[in-house]
Amino acid sequence: MNLDYNVTQPNNGSTPVMLVTGSAKRIGAAIVKAAHNQGYRVIIHCHQSEQDAQALATQLNHTRANSAVVIVADLAIVEDSSALAEFIEDIMSTFGQLDVLVHNASRFYPSPLGDIHHAQWDELFLTNAKAPLLLSQALLPYLKEQKGCIVSLLDIHAHDKPFSNYIVYNMAKAAHRMMVQSLALEMAPEVRVNGVAPGVNVLPEANSDQAIEAKQQRSIINSIPMRRIGHPDEIAHSVLYLVGAHYVTGEIITVDGGRSLTLAGSLV
Ligand SMILES: NC(=O)c1ccc[n+]([C@@H]2O[C@H](COP(=O)([O-])OP(=O)(O)OC[C@H]3O[C@@H](n4cnc5c(N)ncnc54)[C@H](OP(=O)(O)O)[C@@H]3O)[C@@H](O)[C@H]2O)c1
Repeated sequence: MNLDYNVTQPNNGSTPVMLVTGSAKRIGAAIVKAAHNQGYRVIIHCHQSEQDAQALATQLNHTRANSAVVIVADLAIVEDSSALAEFIEDIMSTFGQLDVLVHNASRFYPSPLGDIHHAQWDELFLTNAKAPLLLSQALLPYLKEQKGCIVSLLDIHAHDKPFSNYIVYNMAKAAHRMMVQSLALEMAPEVRVNGVAPGVNVLPEANSDQAIEAKQQRSIINSIPMRRIGHPDEIAHSVLYLVGAHYVTGEIITVDGGRSLTLAGSLV
C-alpha cells in the first residue's frame, strides 16, 4: 500500500517524533512502522507486551539507528500525579521533543447488562477515555512547542450504533470521541486533534478474554460491504493522512469497509 504522505517537519527542522500508546503489536505496531517508514522517530509504548515491543524497536533501529525506543507503563499511572509526571519525563527524555501523540491503547471486552462491575468500568474507562485525556493534557506544552497533533483510535460503535453486550466499552469510546472534538476546540490553533474510527480491522486474539466466536466472526464479515476484515495498515494510512492534514482538526475518519452503513446497533 502507498503510504506517501509528507512527514510534517517540526518548526526546528528536526526529525519528528511520534508516540503511539499500546503499540507493541496489531494496529499500534502498524502505525509505528508506517510512521517510521515516513521518517519519524518513534516511541513504542507497551504494558504487558515488552518482548514484542523490543523486537519491533530492534527491527526499526536496524533500519535506522537510534530511531525507536520502548517505554513500558501501565496507563493506570495517570491515576497518580507523580507517576504520571515520571512517565512524561521518560517520554520527553527519549528524543527531547514530541510532534505526534497517538492514543491507541485500549481494553475491549463485553460487559452485558446485569453483569457490569466497577472493575470493568474502571479499566474500560481508564484505557479508552481517562488516560487519553490526562496524557493529552500533560503532553500539551511539548506538542504546542512543535505545533504537533493528536490522533485517537476510536470505534464505529462510539457513536449512534452501540455494539451489543459491550455497554461500558461503547460508553468509554463515546467519551473518547467527545474528547477529540473538545480538545480540537481547546487546543487550536497550535495543536490539532483528530480521530480514526475502525470497523473490524484485526480480530481480537483467539485465546484472549477479548476473543470473538467463529460464528460471530462470519456474521461480521457478511455484514461488511467490502466483504473482508480490514488491515492494520489501512488504519495507519488514515492516521498518517491526519498527521499531514494541516487544516483538519476535530475530524473523525471512519475506516470500516462500509460496515457502519449496515449496522443496526447489534452484533452484525
Ligand atoms: N482491532 C479492531 O479491529 C478495532 C476495531 C475498532 C476500534 N479499534 C481501536 O483501535 C485501537 C487498536 O486496536 P487493537 O485491536 O490493535 O488494540 P488491542 O490489541 O486490543 O490493544 C492495544 C494495546 O493496548 C494496550 N493496553 C491495554 N491496557 C493497557 C494498560 N492498562 N496500560 C497500557 N497499555 C494497555 C495493550 O498493550 P500490552 O499488550 O503491551 O499490554 C495492547 O497491546 C484500539 O484503541 C481499539 O479500541 C480496533
